Amino acid sequence: MYKIAVIPGDGIGKEVMEATLHVLNRLNLNFEYNFADAGDEYAEIHGEPLAQETIDLVKNSDACLFGAAGETAADVIIRLRQEMDFFANLRPVKTLPGTNALFDNLDFMIVRENTEGLYIGQEKYTDEGAIAKRVITRAASERICKYAFEYAKDNNRKKVTGVHKANVLKKTDGLFKEVFYEVAKEYEKYGIEAEDFYVDATAMYFLTKPQTFDVIVTTNLFGDILSDEGAGLVGSLGLIPSANIGEKGGLFEPIHGSAPYLAGKGLANPTAMLLSAVMMLNYLGEKEYADILDEAILEVLTEQKYLTKDLGGTSSTMEMAEAIAKKIKS
Ligand code: NAI
Ligand code: MG
Repeated sequence: MYKIAVIPGDGIGKEVMEATLHVLNRLNLNFEYNFADAGDEYAEIHGEPLAQETIDLVKNSDACLFGAAGETAADVIIRLRQEMDFFANLRPVKTLPGTNALFDNLDFMIVRENTEGLYIGQEKYTDEGAIAKRVITRAASERICKYAFEYAKDNNRKKVTGVHKANVLKKTDGLFKEVFYEVAKEYEKYGIEAEDFYVDATAMYFLTKPQTFDVIVTTNLFGDILSDEGAGLVGSLGLIPSANIGEKGGLFEPIHGSAPYLAGKGLANPTAMLLSAVMMLNYLGEKEYADILDEAILEVLTEQKYLTKDLGGTSSTMEMAEAIAKKIKS
């Protein structure tokens, strides 16, 4: 039996989580779900967005499913990633059938460093304005670059692209780039190519030649921005799942936020949350169930009968989820 921590969070986080659990219940999984609240609403009642018990719950679980937080996201999801040392954030950019993706056949993985960079939350006001600290360590850079190359090796990927801004951020990103090529050398023997681009050029290449990417490894903020750009490429933020992985387990979440304008209206696309559950099942070694769920999602997308509004359909979150659930033979 697996212990799964479930944190729906705020806004559409709750709705896509409900939809995902509805679909997961069709699979004969031996899961014990333990629920916890966190985020803006939780903070209004309890004075803090993330309770220590919730961090402990995630610590004592085999995996965590997370929806989305709202304005307190930094104190909830960024904090959880750091507290749990979920250092690798995997964000697949993949063209799915039945969607309005800008390009056919996109299939690349963004590997985002998840514990440092500009997201360490060390900001302060000064007489002139404010300062934010950006930390890049050799250890974390090496760990994330190794993770990206290992991912490439294990998943038959041919190229890893290091993304940085080393021409301006000479010391921090200079170090990241240096470590990237040190690690790349160890993987030459596996035939994995290495290249690097500045982040601004990469943002353009996403639009001009996105099919040439295979695996991208980058620092925290750049990975955050580029993955939303990736969502634009594949047609919706409601389509990109993610895995936050470390030595102490994994947390699986859509890359989108709480989308307050959609919340409470059944307009959220549940696909990103459902595909996050697929990533969780694979992580837990339940490949058979992962494939069943993945195929059910792809069938519903392909048929284009039960799609949410972002994909040009008229179905609600739960209607789309129900259509996916029905594809799963018991
Ligand atoms: P957002 O990701 O919530 O929404 C951005 C755009 O994508 C909106 O147009 C929204 O309607 C659309 N969208 C997002 N998810 C969708 C889905 N499942 N189906 C269809 N359309 C979808 O980002 P935004 O608007 O910048 O932030 C809203 C709140 O979410 C903020 O309070 C922010 O702090 C929080 N946030 C939390 C994150 C997390 O918990 N991991 C990540 C990003 C933002
Ligand atoms: Mg983001």
